[in-house]
Amino acid sequence: MGRLLALTFAYLAHLLATATTGSERQQHRVQHGRCTYTFILPEVEHCHTSKDFQVTNTLQRDSPPDAEAEASQFEPGEAQKERPSWQERKLVNLESAMENNTQWLQKLENFIQQNVRSGMEEMKRTAVHTQTAAMLEMGTNLLSQSAEQTRKLTDVETQVLNQTSRLEIQLLEYSLFTNRLEKHILLQTQEISRLGDKNSFLEQRLLALEARYGKGLHGMQIEKQQLQELVERQSRLVSQLQGELVGSTLNSSLLQRQQAVLTDTVQQLLAMVNHCNGKTVNMPKENPLSFRDCADILRSGVTASGLYGIRLPNSTQTVKVFCDMKTGGGGWTVLQHRSNGSVSFHRGWREYKMGFGEPSGEHWLGNDIIHKLTSSQEYSLHVQLKDREGNEAFSHYDRFYIEAEDNNYSLHAEGFSGTAGRTSSLSHTGTQFSTKDRDNDRCTCKCAQLASGGWWFAACGPSNLNGIYYPSSSSVVRYNGIKWYYWKGPNLMATMTTMMVRPANF
Ligand SMILES: *[C@@H]1O[C@H](CO)[C@@H](O)[C@H](O)[C@H]1NC(C)=O
Ligand SMILES: *[C@@H]1O[C@H](CO)[C@@H](O)[C@H](O)[C@H]1NC(C)=O
Ligand SMILES: *[C@@H]1O[C@H](CO)[C@@H](O)[C@H](O)[C@H]1NC(C)=O
Ligand SMILES: *[C@@H]1O[C@H](CO)[C@@H](O)[C@H](O)[C@H]1NC(C)=O
Ligand SMILES: *[C@@H]1O[C@H](CO)[C@@H](O)[C@H](O)[C@H]1NC(C)=O
Ligand SMILES: *[C@@H]1O[C@H](CO)[C@@H](O)[C@H](O)[C@H]1NC(C)=O
Repeated sequence: MGRLLALTFAYLAHLLATATTGSERQQHRVQHGRCTYTFILPEVEHCHTSKDFQVTNTLQRDSPPDAEAEASQFEPGEAQKERPSWQERKLVNLESAMENNTQWLQKLENFIQQNVRSGMEEMKRTAVHTQTAAMLEMGTNLLSQSAEQTRKLTDVETQVLNQTSRLEIQLLEYSLFTNRLEKHILLQTQEISRLGDKNSFLEQRLLALEARYGKGLHGMQIEKQQLQELVERQSRLVSQLQGELVGSTLNSSLLQRQQAVLTDTVQQLLAMVNHCNGKTVNMPKENPLSFRDCADILRSGVTASGLYGIRLPNSTQTVKVFCDMKTGGGGWTVLQHRSNGSVSFHRGWREYKMGFGEPSGEHWLGNDIIHKLTSSQEYSLHVQLKDREGNEAFSHYDRFYIEAEDNNYSLHAEGFSGTAGRTSSLSHTGTQFSTKDRDNDRCTCKCAQLASGGWWFAACGPSNLNGIYYPSSSSVVRYNGIKWYYWKGPNLMATMTTMMVRPANF
């Protein structure tokens, strides 16, 4: 018990000795039997507690070293500048606590001194021990309080720093954003200025164009005015001409009326002449007129087609013939005519020699008459054809005649032209006439019997205008129909045929 108390006192002494470094010390010596106890205690009046506290406070290591040093020198004026006010207060509190502790220790010392003097060591030892434990506990409490405060302080600092950095970050972002906006605005401004430049350029060009086209427009307007004047002048001229034209038309119709009157007069005169001619034709034989052919009659002044009498050369025979006074100037003596199939042409040699039918209709004039007529002077032959569709064509021969019956009425036709085929459809010169009863052709067959009628058949040749008159067209090939090969092929199916002659020198 005595040893423990001694140890405790030794520790307390040591603690107090370190706490009062550099200060004055007070030694207390206690005699207890054989043992002597010495206590070294600090002066109560010059106590510096703050340094002891800070040395043992390991939690204060993150505080700035300057502040620590200044705090250790205990200069409140400078510390106040460096630390926030609450910290200062805290320090003041701590100081006062230390002061209190010191006071308390002084009390304790006094108490101990009293106890020692009273000689009640046991009591004193126990008391000291208890007091020391309480004191240690209090110190520990103080330390933990201080650590707590420091932690709180650090937290606050951290929060402030956090806020500050956040604000800084935001500020940075804002500044970046602002920069971007500024750049954008700059670009827009440049664009606007460029557009303005372009606009002014376009305006200049527009002005230039207006100026240029304005001149052109002016010129065109002048031209237009000139043209309008010209048109007006022309219109006046045209109306003037129209007036003249109306006058001319009146004059012209007047002339036409005069012409009509003259034509009437001429026709009356011609009629009178015809009347006189008719009288002469119908005159008795004792006063005959020698018209050789229709050309003679035409030359005598008769222009109407119809039946007239002619006298053959070296003969007193008068022959009734049909004269065509219209075709190609007129004067044609008709040798053959077919128009409706009313007369049969399938006849013998003698009938063809003498002729048949009526000259006013279908007929064959007769081979003897044809021979006599065409051999008396040079004649040309005109063959007129018309098909069922109404198409007309002709074949013309500048020179035509037939020989006498001794030579079987051999054919002579030359100088071909016309529209009824490019080639002549008449047989060659020298072809003899054949009938069903007189076969003079160059075929072993009998062409007149095969083809019907009487004609200048060769073998049997490309033509036969005296074939059978078929009233309607047919696709059947008929060898015995009317034929003019080089116009319409084997079947002509003509509705009209006419053979007529006129002097070649007409
Ligand atoms: C110091 O002692 C006084 C009076 O004894 C008391 O009012 C005060 O609160 C004490 N201070 C501390 C920090 O314990
Ligand atoms: C700031 O505090 C928030 C939460 O309060 C936390 O998420 C964030 O990471 C902190 N920032 C910094 C830089 O410490
Ligand atoms: C009409 O004819 C008459 C004479 O017949 C002539 O004097 C007049 O100028 C003619 N008029 C016209 C418009 O030709
Ligand atoms: C044929 O024509 C003639 C006159 O050209 C005429 O007299 C006759 O009656 C006609 N015959 C027929 C059958 O039409
Ligand atoms: C007409 O008769 C004369 C004398 O008889 C003769 O010379 C002449 O050739 C004859 N004319 C004709 C066309 O036959
Ligand atoms: C004319 O025909 C007959 C018989 O048809 C013939 O005997 C005669 O010789 C012919 N005449 C000529 C010149 O060929």
